[in-house]
Amino acid sequence: MTINARAELRQRADYTHKFNTKTGRHGWLRLTPAYSLKVVEELIDACRDPVRVLDPFSGTATTALSAAYHGHEGVTTDINPFLVWFGKVKTAQYLPNDLKRATDACTRVLSLVKSGRVVPVPAPPIHKIERWWPAHVLDFLRCVRGAIDTATDHATPERDLLLIAFCRSLISLSNAAFNHQSMSFKDVEQQSFDLEMDLGAVYAADVLFVIEGARQNPTGRGSVILGDSRSPKDAVSGHFDRVITSPPYANRMSYIRELRPYMYWLGFLENGRDAGELDWTAIGGTWGVATSRLTEWERPAERFRHPVLDTALDGIAHHENKSGRILANYVAKYFDDMWAHFQGLTPVLADRAEVHYIVGNSTFYGVLLPVEQLYAAMLSSLGFTDVTCRAIRKRNSKKELIEFDVIGHWRATPKRKRRNIARAGATV
Ligand SMILES: C[S@@+](CC[C@H](N)C(=O)[O-])C[C@H]1O[C@@H](n2cnc3c(N)ncnc32)[C@H](O)[C@@H]1O
Repeated sequence: MTINARAELRQRADYTHKFNTKTGRHGWLRLTPAYSLKVVEELIDACRDPVRVLDPFSGTATTALSAAYHGHEGVTTDINPFLVWFGKVKTAQYLPNDLKRATDACTRVLSLVKSGRVVPVPAPPIHKIERWWPAHVLDFLRCVRGAIDTATDHATPERDLLLIAFCRSLISLSNAAFNHQSMSFKDVEQQSFDLEMDLGAVYAADVLFVIEGARQNPTGRGSVILGDSRSPKDAVSGHFDRVITSPPYANRMSYIRELRPYMYWLGFLENGRDAGELDWTAIGGTWGVATSRLTEWERPAERFRHPVLDTALDGIAHHENKSGRILANYVAKYFDDMWAHFQGLTPVLADRAEVHYIVGNSTFYGVLLPVEQLYAAMLSSLGFTDVTCRAIRKRNSKKELIEFDVIGHWRATPKRKRRNIARAGATV
């Protein structure tokens, strides 16, 4: 395993999700932990012939869409049903008629809202909703959401596109701030709301933006599948030439927490309990009920063992902080889950497959967790060759926090081929 020089590393906004915001469909919705399209495109550009690309941690389907735009087949899975819906809409093919129907439906929505001939949906049960939207904006959003239900049929392309635009508007009209690692709220001084603002015009502009992106159909195929990356072969079929992905980082970020405004407004979540349950199924989830479950969680006997991990877990658990034990459990479970993922991945890899895991290291109470080295160790122990950790960028001003591309190469030896066929249930 090699690690390349870090001396020249810089913080690079073009290597973060910020690069995606103005880029057609890639800019439709923002997810802070989405990775930069630029990183993905560089990896996809390196594939000469059409390949099958797998992303086991879809998020906003950046990889699948990018692969499809370059004429490859992009297949991706995620455990979050909202992200699966979003990824499907983002990678779909749209006919001119679909876009015309979306434009017409937007006109109907705005006219229903303006005339007051609409039944507003109830405000979603988001905790302290008044922190998100001033009362008049909340009323507007409830009317638009109700009007979308009236003006479109279920599961039609025009409805999907209007809902994506709605998600854009609900964030741009909110007090949410994105100047932290995860979503927070603007300071009171920053919360100046123009009462004269034409809210309908904001939504119309978002619909236009989404339709412009939808016009740019990919030439390749993208599929987005609900599935657990700890068992890829249950979700996808066939073998893949490339894995390009960015798994959850070991940094306690909750994707459900980040996505909750969209998920509540679109009916993917109904209460905080469900949010916690969903987060518990995600790798690295620690929100709500997931936190209390971690307290009682015990490491299984069958687990990934490595001296670097043991030292880090010891340092975190014995730190003079009352949360040390639970954080050590969090980290241990994160690596057990990633180990299950890597073990489950090899049966779906083609001979000479290349894998790229874009991941950052972490610190807990000053204990450095070299996530990239542990990924590399897992890949090596499964038989991947030429395993490398390439440093990509500094993640913030702390010099030790770095994002890496962990690379590995897979050879399907005759023995492995036989084992994979047997696992797939076929006769050799
Ligand atoms: C860092 S994000 C991926 C961001 C993505 N690269 C993008 O550009 O938007 C990690 C994703 O892994 C998903 N995830 C977490 N646990 C999972 C699991 N067990 N199976 C599948 N997906 C999972 C999360 O829902 C989240 O969307």
